[in-house]
Amino acid sequence: MDAHSRKVVQENRDYTMFSWSVQGAAAPLHMKRGQGVYFWDGEDNRWLDFSSQLINLNIGHQHPKMLEAIKKQVDELCFAGPSFATESRGLLGKKLSEVTGLAKTFFTLGGAEANENAMKMAKLVTGRSKIITRYRSYHGATMGAMTASGDPRRLPVEPGIPGIVRVFDPYCYRCPFGQKVETCHRECVSHIEEVIQMEGPTSIAAILVEGITGSNGLLVPPDDYYPKLRALCDKYGILLITDEVMSGFGRTGKWLATQHYGIRPDMVTCAKGLTSGYMPLGAVIVSDAVARYFESNMLWGGLTYSGHPVSCAAAVANLRIYEEENIFANVETQGRYLASRLAAMKRKYSCVGDVRSIGLFSVLELVKDKTTREPLAPFNGSSPEMTKLAAYLKSKHVYAFSRFNMLWVCPPLIITEAELSAGLDIVEEALALVSESLGAESAAVAEAAR
Ligand SMILES: Cc1ncc(COP(=O)(O)O)c(C=O)c1O
Repeated sequence: MDAHSRKVVQENRDYTMFSWSVQGAAAPLHMKRGQGVYFWDGEDNRWLDFSSQLINLNIGHQHPKMLEAIKKQVDELCFAGPSFATESRGLLGKKLSEVTGLAKTFFTLGGAEANENAMKMAKLVTGRSKIITRYRSYHGATMGAMTASGDPRRLPVEPGIPGIVRVFDPYCYRCPFGQKVETCHRECVSHIEEVIQMEGPTSIAAILVEGITGSNGLLVPPDDYYPKLRALCDKYGILLITDEVMSGFGRTGKWLATQHYGIRPDMVTCAKGLTSGYMPLGAVIVSDAVARYFESNMLWGGLTYSGHPVSCAAAVANLRIYEEENIFANVETQGRYLASRLAAMKRKYSCVGDVRSIGLFSVLELVKDKTTREPLAPFNGSSPEMTKLAAYLKSKHVYAFSRFNMLWVCPPLIITEAELSAGLDIVEEALALVSESLGAESAAVAEAAR
């Protein structure tokens, strides 16, 4: 690392705080530049970004049309307060309405704020107080969004906000109801009805679920899950809010993950892929009925940076890029290739228990033993094998997200088959290493038992 990079890292370490880290253990890389699916560190190593940063850099690093659109807006108007009308805000609202089939958008700065505002709106519109969410979910790190998350990151800051009731997930590989595909009666939906009954149907304002659960295991629901959930919400006058912060804007090959299932939520929250991370922006997109409520009732919410003109201009350009460059078609093509490679890994490596993917949104769930499905690391924990896997990828300059017993492969949506294949080859090398060490371990256990 050169002297400049050392200084950058040192100042970051000395004067800034890093997310989800014991500060003394934070070891940030200096990111010097990026291009497409790659970025370069302080030692000029080229990294393959197999995580699209935080699963948000959908169009890859430094897309020229984005840079141009942001610069144009900066030259024209950098800021307008949230009560002003601006060209980029109007254009974006109209486009979001067109691609989601919903009516109006309230802009925030990120995903957590979008979920905070969606929950607040649901309470205002229905006059009810409770929100149902799922255990394996992440909705953001602000206090309300953190409570809405079932993710164990909520535990150290509990108790959070009142009124959150959690239910179980459509996690078919480890069904919380002990079912198998052949015996399943969609208890993952029917138990929600029981919870609604127990909590008092007229007290539930909304059910808030991730479009496709992302950082808690990439849980792709069965095809009839969403239609059943939609029907349940309609039966009890509950609003359905889908958090598409991670799963929206092309990650699964469509604007919204729920578009794969033919249902329309009452509200959609989004962020990340809305601007591909080039500018901070989140949004709550609401149905006609919700929008109409606020035509004659106060929207008790506001943010200094709501509708920031530069963020909106970046989003307008980003959505245009998705269309002009046929990016969702690439997600479908590369997604098929990715799924086939993952399926082959599941057949080949003893440590791959399950693989789940939709578009370029995928996870490998790793186990010690395929029959018992014992996880390679415990829930909310790590293990030497997972550490070894992550270290191998890092040593090969593949940037990928791993957590508990899972490894995510979520590259930028512009990736080519050759780039994807090169990264997956390295993932395979890491899996071979882990499978080998598990094999050696089980041979040692068998030897000791003899
Ligand atoms: C599904 C989901 N919702 C909300 C958030 C929070 O978004 P932000 O970090 O922009 O507040 C995230 C972030 O990872 C997410 O994955």
